[in-house]
Amino acid sequence: MEGAKKKGKAVVVGGSIAGLSCAHALIAAGWEVVVIEKSSGPPTGTPTGAGLGLDPLSQRLIESWLGHPNLLHNSTLPLTIDQNLVTDGENKMNWTLTRDENFNYRAAHWADLHSLLYNGLPPNIFLWGHLYLSFCVSNDKSNVRLKAKILQTSEIIEIVGELLIAADGCLSSIRRNFLPELKLRYSGYCAWRGLLDFSDDGHLEAILGLRRVYPDLGKCLYFCLGYGTHSVLYELLNNKINWIWYVNQPEPELKGNSVTMKVSSDMIKKMHEDAEKVWVPELARIMKETKEPFINVIYDCDPLEQIFWDNVVLVGDAAHPTTPHGLRSTNMTILDAAVLGKCLEKWGVENLQSALGEFQSTRLPVTSKQVLHSRKMGRIKQGLVLPDRKAFDPKMATPEECHDLQQKNMPFFGQVPSILMQTHASFDC
Ligand SMILES: Cc1cc2nc3c(=O)[nH]c(=O)nc-3n(C[C@H](O)[C@H](O)[C@H](O)COP(=O)(O)OP(=O)(O)OC[C@H]3O[C@@H](n4cnc5c(N)ncnc54)[C@H](O)[C@@H]3O)c2cc1C
Ligand SMILES: *[C@@H]1O[C@H](CO)[C@@H](O)[C@H](O)[C@H]1NC(C)=O
Ligand SMILES: *[C@@H]1O[C@H](CO)[C@@H](O)[C@H](O)[C@H]1NC(C)=O
Ligand SMILES: *[C@@H]1O[C@H](CO)[C@@H](O)[C@H](O)[C@H]1NC(C)=O
Repeated sequence: MEGAKKKGKAVVVGGSIAGLSCAHALIAAGWEVVVIEKSSGPPTGTPTGAGLGLDPLSQRLIESWLGHPNLLHNSTLPLTIDQNLVTDGENKMNWTLTRDENFNYRAAHWADLHSLLYNGLPPNIFLWGHLYLSFCVSNDKSNVRLKAKILQTSEIIEIVGELLIAADGCLSSIRRNFLPELKLRYSGYCAWRGLLDFSDDGHLEAILGLRRVYPDLGKCLYFCLGYGTHSVLYELLNNKINWIWYVNQPEPELKGNSVTMKVSSDMIKKMHEDAEKVWVPELARIMKETKEPFINVIYDCDPLEQIFWDNVVLVGDAAHPTTPHGLRSTNMTILDAAVLGKCLEKWGVENLQSALGEFQSTRLPVTSKQVLHSRKMGRIKQGLVLPDRKAFDPKMATPEECHDLQQKNMPFFGQVPSILMQTHASFDC
């Protein structure tokens, strides 16, 4: 490393997975980092979020940031099998469409991954309880000045850096400055989500029943395909079952700046009744016994044409809102951070435009394809029409459809961007 290079300072807006990953990658690249997050502190106590899948490359990147190879491994469960299983609730039948036993993902709880990444960073770089308000780029474009409000006192502060990283999620307010017209695209369905904690004996029978019908729980990512609907099922560390059930419906009206919907007890009751009709009794029972299930409204966005403007760059969900079917959201996010870090390290703060240009040309073609592929997977699984084919019918699944259903057929699956290989031979797959 040439010590002569000037140290850059980046202001990251958003302290979720994208923001924390960028903090790790930029610190590794020799940058100074400040992270601004509107939540009052790191998530503690009651578990926030649910499950997410990490691919092998994301696992290795996170391990390299944390410095302890076992830390991540110890906080996750394996997902070595990717299986698509049809459930015909009406005729009480089921059959397997695809089963990939070489699937090297691991399942993490959102809050566990967040705290692993958070605990590996110096605490003094975080400004919790700070709401990002606005930014302006200096005339000579050498720096960017950002305004944030301290939520507890309403005091407004200014922070200056060479680079502003928008890691503020799929509803990014920083993105709105450049793309005021951009709207998220409703997928046509919402997801009921829940996390059953079976640490206490209260759910013993339900869990035994579930393991009987889904014997590979604990290492398998189950996609349960119904008619015009599907569910996802997998186990998380510390006695948790993560389930998601996608239901086609008109776009609901959302209140506030969130894609999570408050649900009434009537809605939950109706969901329980419907589950009895669609799924095996053992899965319906898990859904019934889960406390506080919630609804995520599923959106994505047509790929953007650019993801940086002067010294402002979008990463994570801000750069590529996606449906969850390809398990991409977090993987794309972690890769964004790693590639951004390497580009900044390679070009230095003096050549920020080249660094951001290389970041964009490395990431945008990949994330664009992956978002569109995930959209297609979702539409197949939900039995929604696609421009080039009939709505999917599990009873008459074509080889092409079975191909597209499998995670491993995601474009760029298993490919490592060359900028990561140049510096880390160990990332070679
Ligand atoms: C609490 C929480 C729980 C989640 N749980 C899951 C899960 O269980 N499974 C899953 O697959 N995905 C989950 N996600 C989403 C997942 O983190 C993302 O899909 C993906 O990892 C990319 O993350 P991101 O950091 O780009 O976006 P996000 O995770 O959406 O993070 C954006 C962050 O920016 C902050 N922010 C936004 N606007 C401002 C502002 N004006 N000022 C300051 N801060 C701002 C938000 O508070 C948030 O922390 C969760 C996200 C959150 C925030
Ligand atoms: C991971 O778990 C193993 C076995 O329980 C333990 O020996 C090891 O110390 C743990 N490693 C870390 C880094 O937590
Ligand atoms: C699938 O069908 C078999 C045979 O009827 C049954 O034993 C098994 O529990 C079913 N599994 C699921 C997940 O529906
Ligand atoms: C993770 O995503 C990136 C692109 O977003 C891709 O290049 C890489 O191959 C993915 N890894 C796997 C194992 O899917």
